Amino acid sequence: ELGPYSHFMQKEIHEQPKAIADTLENLLDSGFVPELFGAQAADVLSRVRGVKILACGTSYYAGLTAKYWIEAMAGIQCDVEIASEYRYRAAWADPEHLVVTISQSGETLDTMEALKYARELGHKWALSICNVRESAIPRASDLVFYTRAGAEIGVASTKAFTTQLVALFTLAATLAKLRGKLGDADEARLIDELRHLPGSVQHALNLEPQIKAWADRFAAKNDALFLGRGLHYPIALEGALKLKEITYIHAEAYPAGELKHGPLALVDENMPVVVIAPNDSLLEKVKSNMQEVSARGGELFVFADLDSHFEDSPGVHVIRTPRHSGVLSPIVHTIPVQMLSYHVALARGTDVDKPRNLAKSVTVE
Ligand code: F6R
Repeated sequence: ELGPYSHFMQKEIHEQPKAIADTLENLLDSGFVPELFGAQAADVLSRVRGVKILACGTSYYAGLTAKYWIEAMAGIQCDVEIASEYRYRAAWADPEHLVVTISQSGETLDTMEALKYARELGHKWALSICNVRESAIPRASDLVFYTRAGAEIGVASTKAFTTQLVALFTLAATLAKLRGKLGDADEARLIDELRHLPGSVQHALNLEPQIKAWADRFAAKNDALFLGRGLHYPIALEGALKLKEITYIHAEAYPAGELKHGPLALVDENMPVVVIAPNDSLLEKVKSNMQEVSARGGELFVFADLDSHFEDSPGVHVIRTPRHSGVLSPIVHTIPVQMLSYHVALARGTDVDKPRNLAKSVTVE
């Protein structure tokens, strides 16, 4: 079942080009049409005035990424909430805001209960982004987009996350098109970028030997800090969560602009700082945040892309993905943080596929 791989997590990391290509299959032919979300989606998606995303864990981080896409591309409000918080607070609801749940398993209790609560509060429509057909959450939703990652067995989510991002990007583009904010030429360009995505992910996978070399340096650490800005901040969060889950190293993620508001006090020569820094509109800001780390003796491990123009220097280690992926860059830059955690776990000898204290599907509170 594992083929040439040592663990399900490793296998599932390497299955991502195919998982993404499968998830994109209908879309590459159809373009961003509402029918991708179900037969009656055209009516709903053209009427929604905002989006409320509810999810847990890694799926919540997919939601955080989607907020950047949805607000920028479709020009409508998008809130993202942790399902276990939302379900117990006296939340404000706009009935015309589309509830979007994100769940690999489709059975996560907190997400299911948050969906029911949103309905009680009056939300008219619910869309489920899910990897397991006919599971509880899609059955309770009006619209469904199934990611086609295939069975995910490793407890740490990998291919489910990147395919959720593909689904959410598709949602953002579809909402944008329905609102007249995505012209034909831009749509064709985005479809073309999506067509190249599995290839770019494969290029990122090819960085494994370089990442393995970094992993040995992380294995002896007790703490790590992950930084990103904008679209790459949720990827920093995901990187820190992966590291915690499977290596048991304490890791935290911050939007890099927050450093000087507190976490900079943690930085010294013992603190590895991972930076997700592909070229985007905030790169110069990220570079000055990196200076703040270097000035305190912190060691930087930078995931950049072809266009970010970083050089290795003392205390600054750089791994570059060989293409620039534009607005899809968070999907590509998830791959190196997954591989980093995987190889650090191997170096520390932890149980990669079944980390202590965790279950694959959380159907209890
Ligand atoms: C992290 C991880 C969890 C899940 C979370 C939600 O690697 O797997 O954080 O993402 O438990 O699970 P689903 O997506 O099944 O609702």
